[in-house]
Amino acid sequence: MRALTAAAAAALLVSQMFAASASSPVQAVFQADSTSSAPINTLRKPFGRFLHVTDLHPDPHYKHASAVSGACHHKKPKKGKPDGKLRAGWWGTALTDCDSPPRLVESSLNWASRNLVQYSSSKHDHADVISPSAGGVDVGLDFIIWTGDSARHDNDNRVPRSSKEIFELNRWVLDQLETSFPGVPLIPTVGNNDIFPHNILFPGPNAVTKEYVQIWQDHIPEYEFHTFEQGGYYVKEILPNRLAAMSLNTLYFYDNNKAVDGCVKTKRGSKGKDVDPGTAQLDWLEVQLNLFRSRGMQVHLLGHVPPTAGNYFERCYRRYTDIVLRYQDTVVGQHFGHMNTDAFFIQEDEEEAYQQEIEKNNEVEAQEEPGLPGDLKQDYSTLPGKGRTNEDMYSVFYIAPSIIPTFYPSIRLWTYNTSEAARYVAAHSSSLISAVDEDEVEEADEEEEDGGVESESPFGTLSRHHHRPTPPKKRKGKKHKKKKRKALPRHASPDSPSRTNTYLSLLGYSQWVMDIDEQNEAIEQILHPKKDDVSTSAFTQEKGVDKKKTKKDKHDGKDDEERKRRQHEAEKMQVSYRLEYATYTPEVLWTEFGSTSSDRPGPVPKALLEQELHRAGLQSPFITSDIQDVDQEVGASKKRGVKLAKPLRKFTDYSLASATIGDMMDLARRLMVDKKLWKRFKRRIYSESGYLP
Ligand SMILES: *[C@@H]1O[C@H](CO)[C@@H](O)[C@H](O)[C@H]1NC(C)=O
Repeated sequence: MRALTAAAAAALLVSQMFAASASSPVQAVFQADSTSSAPINTLRKPFGRFLHVTDLHPDPHYKHASAVSGACHHKKPKKGKPDGKLRAGWWGTALTDCDSPPRLVESSLNWASRNLVQYSSSKHDHADVISPSAGGVDVGLDFIIWTGDSARHDNDNRVPRSSKEIFELNRWVLDQLETSFPGVPLIPTVGNNDIFPHNILFPGPNAVTKEYVQIWQDHIPEYEFHTFEQGGYYVKEILPNRLAAMSLNTLYFYDNNKAVDGCVKTKRGSKGKDVDPGTAQLDWLEVQLNLFRSRGMQVHLLGHVPPTAGNYFERCYRRYTDIVLRYQDTVVGQHFGHMNTDAFFIQEDEEEAYQQEIEKNNEVEAQEEPGLPGDLKQDYSTLPGKGRTNEDMYSVFYIAPSIIPTFYPSIRLWTYNTSEAARYVAAHSSSLISAVDEDEVEEADEEEEDGGVESESPFGTLSRHHHRPTPPKKRKGKKHKKKKRKALPRHASPDSPSRTNTYLSLLGYSQWVMDIDEQNEAIEQILHPKKDDVSTSAFTQEKGVDKKKTKKDKHDGKDDEERKRRQHEAEKMQVSYRLEYATYTPEVLWTEFGSTSSDRPGPVPKALLEQELHRAGLQSPFITSDIQDVDQEVGASKKRGVKLAKPLRKFTDYSLASATIGDMMDLARRLMVDKKLWKRFKRRIYSESGYLP
């Protein structure tokens, strides 16, 4: 009976959500030259920007002011819980297990569409930009990567999830994205909570992959429908013949998925259903990368669960890492979600890592840090010095923090290089490829399997996030034969966009964060104004005692009216995000504020930077006392004379020229020697929510 009621309530709530969203105004901020399903017009120069949103987790059962210990669903908290008194915030509740109220998702996407897409009424000379309307958009988004978990968690026995609800929530999020960013190509991904039960996905084709093809039919290319039904993954060209995205189904790599074998090797002669879906996906990944490479294209890889040794089955982890490293000249970026935290990881060739560990074993710092910061510290501190680094052996992947307020809600805006004149095309020479006998490869694989599965870390217990593979342990009893290195092609070039700033290279990102505690408090002020500081009480005070008496008669009606009015006022409020930090140099971030202001838009909309100036109480980002010298020299000593004002320096403390592998490795090394920088980095892992591990 209880379950029935809950299910009925869920259906009702979901339908209410749809009704609410349908009536919300369309934010026609970006007018693309095509419908959402069509590829980007080749004639238009790309904007060089894309958005990464992840882990939105809308929860239609979320109730403002309900008990946090009841999943923010119920009035009554669970008895005996220490946080039994904690109440659900209007926009969500940070640092809890509660999901996102739908209004947080809707308002966050609206904020991004209104603010992260750049308008300008000024004279920008972009002849190649098709201006859809007068005073049109200067800088829009080329695409949005959306790395999964678009349904609530299964965190409340009293309101169990169903497949139906999960799919409906996914449709709702899609509708929100399409409404906020009309015409912007989306690249959706399946997350571990987008299926029922969570984490468990059987090999396709199955009901889940078939449903998501339906839901995302406008965003998955039609020629990929079959691939998606098979495996839940697909490729999509985002700049025709130039740039593609590969949306991975990380559930077949994720070691919590008990329905798969974790990338076991395919037995000779097996076909179709006998092949492990993780193995099939990695085969597909390699084939596709090879195809894109031969077409001179670059690829962004994206998925939900990040490829750490702690998250993936060991074989999936090793082979995935091996493939992306061997296609270093083709993989221009890797983006994941799932962890709700903000981090980047350096991937390293297995042999190279092993070598480094032997050499550096004694140098590893004894001081341990718990959780993700500790794992990152281990990752970064064991990197070789710059001079001894063979960059061919490394890559980087990024984890973006979530909208769900596990910490503070967060959104990432990337920029990339669009100077096509400098296009890199991978060499067709096959000098790197050594042909191998198939049997030889298999033998090598088998040894790897035997030796690699049960291994111990030299660093003690590693958490879920730990990234590095552990070196193979010697087998007892058997003689340890030296493993034959698989002779597979390695495609690396210092001229490729992942290594040097050129066409399609990632230039960097800005990270946008919402102080949800502050904005919840603002709503509480509207709903329950304190007696002494709000205008409503001023009214009664002025009118004096007489009014109070008469008021008492109509007490209930008036209170009701007042409550409704306040509720209505609260409903009209919208969230706002602020700049948390950016990876750029100060010159690049503040380019539109310089004395020799370039006519190119900066990587962040100027209006948002102006807000940060205002917040810091500044007129200009640069220290004025120095500017006089500069003026006299007519800008000759601009770099020497102009200093960024102190309150703004935190935004650009990474100060990266681009986000190439070398730049990111340099940052990792700097984080290990600069204690202050590390401290800020650690706070940013948790979106500066105040959480400490
Ligand atoms: C893009 O790449 C070109 C070619 O390497 C380079 O000259 C240019 O400075 C890069 N653009 C940006 C904005 O960094």
